[in-house]
Amino acid sequence: MRKWTRREVLKSGVVVSAGMTSGIPATVARATGPSPAAPPAEDNSSSPRERLLMDFGWRFHLGHACDPAQDFDFDGDGIFSKTGDLFESLQEKFDESKWRPVDLPHDWAVELDFQNDPGLVNHGFKPLDRNYPATSIGWYRRVFAIPSSDLGKRLSIQFDGVYRDCMVVLNGHFIGRNMSGYAPFSYDVTDFLNYGAKNILIVRVDATQGEGWFYEGAGIYRHVWLSKTDPLHVAHGGTFVQPQVEGTVAKLLIRTEVENQGLDRKTINLISRIVDKKGDLVATAETHSMWVDPDTSLNLGAETEIQHPLLWSLEEPNLYRAVTTVQDVDTGRATDQYETAFGIRVIKFDPDEGFFLNGKPVKIKGTCNHQDHAGVGSALPDRIQYYRIEKLKEMGVNGYRTSHNPPTPELLDACDQLGMLVMDETRRMSSDTEALGDLERMIRRDRNHPCVILWSLANEEPEQGTARGARIVSTMKRLARRLDPSRPVTTAMDDGWGEGVSGVVDVQGFNYKHGPEIDDFHRRFPKQPTIGTEVGSTVSTRGIYANDKEQGYVSAYDVNFPEWAATAEVWWKIYAERRFLSGGFVWTGFDYRGEPTPYEWPCINSHFGIMDTCGFPKDNYYYYQAWWSDKPVLHLFPHWNWPGKEGQEIDVWCHSNLEKVELFLNGASQGVKEVARNSHVSWKVGYKPGTLEARGYKGGQKVLVDKRETTGGPAKLFLRPDRREIMADGEDVSLVELQVLDKEGRMVPVADNEIVFQLSGDGKIIGVGNGDPSSHEPDKAHKRRAFNGLCMVIVQSAKEEGELRLEASSPGLEPATVAITCARATLRPAVA
Ligand code: GAL
Repeated sequence: MRKWTRREVLKSGVVVSAGMTSGIPATVARATGPSPAAPPAEDNSSSPRERLLMDFGWRFHLGHACDPAQDFDFDGDGIFSKTGDLFESLQEKFDESKWRPVDLPHDWAVELDFQNDPGLVNHGFKPLDRNYPATSIGWYRRVFAIPSSDLGKRLSIQFDGVYRDCMVVLNGHFIGRNMSGYAPFSYDVTDFLNYGAKNILIVRVDATQGEGWFYEGAGIYRHVWLSKTDPLHVAHGGTFVQPQVEGTVAKLLIRTEVENQGLDRKTINLISRIVDKKGDLVATAETHSMWVDPDTSLNLGAETEIQHPLLWSLEEPNLYRAVTTVQDVDTGRATDQYETAFGIRVIKFDPDEGFFLNGKPVKIKGTCNHQDHAGVGSALPDRIQYYRIEKLKEMGVNGYRTSHNPPTPELLDACDQLGMLVMDETRRMSSDTEALGDLERMIRRDRNHPCVILWSLANEEPEQGTARGARIVSTMKRLARRLDPSRPVTTAMDDGWGEGVSGVVDVQGFNYKHGPEIDDFHRRFPKQPTIGTEVGSTVSTRGIYANDKEQGYVSAYDVNFPEWAATAEVWWKIYAERRFLSGGFVWTGFDYRGEPTPYEWPCINSHFGIMDTCGFPKDNYYYYQAWWSDKPVLHLFPHWNWPGKEGQEIDVWCHSNLEKVELFLNGASQGVKEVARNSHVSWKVGYKPGTLEARGYKGGQKVLVDKRETTGGPAKLFLRPDRREIMADGEDVSLVELQVLDKEGRMVPVADNEIVFQLSGDGKIIGVGNGDPSSHEPDKAHKRRAFNGLCMVIVQSAKEEGELRLEASSPGLEPATVAITCARATLRPAVA
């Protein structure tokens, strides 16, 4: 991390308060400078800033990409001829009763039927492209009131992510158009609002054109916020807290951008109070008496220290908050209070020793992931982000690559709070204005998250090995450095190492190519750190033990992989043996829609996941858990229900990190196997119904036993919610696993009964799934077939406290019921 010298601080011209030894250089906007001395700052803890969630109460209708009559008369003709009459027919007198009520986040792609059209393979056979104009456009409408007391404030609408190419229109005025399906964007709408009256916001979303080669969803699939501030305020994403640890002290370099959108020059004091996780004030940084001219912004640097800071780590993800107050010196009034969550940690990528966190070597045991989940597509309630990170952590994962796009902010919150390292990736490798804007907004938004350790500027780009590619990435890197000098950049390369962008990035990324290429690079470029940006990957289907092209299933043994890839056991051995490699990100942690490999229709999902789309573990999960986590692991597979295969040899595998495993069939030993490091053990066993039992030993002691028993047929159902108590905030969810059991209470590993769910109480079912990569059942339904014994239903609270009762039933089976409590919650402030 860069140290700021006294000389640089003096050069910057920034005034820092007494008690501070230095400040960070600041880029001072025009017409600013120190003003006469002013009285010291006074606290005013009630913030005039409001941030209101704008997720509830929208209306939605599909439009049409080529027929204006079905697209609310949107034909593009003359839409900019006069200001303020855009989408006139959708304004004041429009009858929206035919538009469906929806709450955000919302993904309309997941609601569409699957189409067996090879042109749609990458996006999971959902009809979105030029051949499907009737399902590729979505219109959103939101009516809201703005009180007259807001007149004089600055108001802006922030979109965390819209897929994609959307046009935003407020009260008939064009507000903006955003192309990226992933980058956040916001618009200042102050001039266009009706104060003390009704406002009509319309967002036309055009998902005709895809960006990636995987399922991407469609619609306003992340949160929307309305912010209200005084004209004198901290700019959106305008703070950056850079900790620098020296011995037992953390120096905080705090950069703040203050905007003056008022009419007069203002003299300000800026106070950042640092609060620990208990809420105690641990440090303060003050900058006094700076003036900001109207229509300018001022970048201020200040520094403070924390003695004996609680570092952010994977085991103890300690966080702090900087609460920044802008004080108008003339009135003494606090015009803004802005909060920044941050963590204090030291990261280093070393070319010989790999990655270090807080001075300790940490091998990155990561997964790449796309953003969709069963039942909800790409519109994940926040809780599902936490669920997914928890599942990965249980498996021993410590790293997450947001392939291949900027993530939703809640994913980074989950990684900050639960302890997960993140490689944060932009969507497009380009230095065009649009792409640089996307990158800038991503970095400004994400740079305070301690979880983020790398900015990723590209993935497998044709230009990766060329001089032009190098020029493009070098412009992107300069931007990244300007916004955040503390983190290295990388690109995920599948060729051309040592050429083109290789010479630009700080950390060299390798996608897939193993051993020899990496060793060769390390020999030729011994000073450049390296990482496996994309590794693995086994293709497998949960609970399936033979490839079946017709059904679109792949065996769950760790044996099948595309020709550019490798099994879990092969890649991990290579990486585990090379200390210089910082670690790797497996393709992928979870299955995702689209990109079905190796088979296509009826298969609509990828099979790369170590877990399926619901987060149910496949067998390989336990390979990683055995070698990546600290807990003792013994996992035996396959299941033992093979009627008709009596006498035939079955491959029996065990993933374990114990020293020896002995296998028994119906009490008869099948032999003891020693477990080699980073390997599995296996036997060939002639099938006889009964009990297959593995006993795992360490130091001569039996440590774990795992069994697979031949079960009876489906007899009853069992419901297992991930949480029995959720918040009554209209957002929280419980992810409920359904198991089909035999009459002895054993999960029937081949059961595929159709399950009907019924929910009573104030709440709703927002989706169902089962991880079957070839299922064409709807996600938005109250029923689902089990797939190999399991399926999932996602239940969401309303804003009323009380109890929800979820019942699962299936003809001929004993039903199951579970209660989920919706507990009193503090609602997030929301737009009425
Ligand atoms: C990689 C690519 C990923 C995914 C994967 C499938 O080359 O970066 O997005 O397509 O292959 O194996």
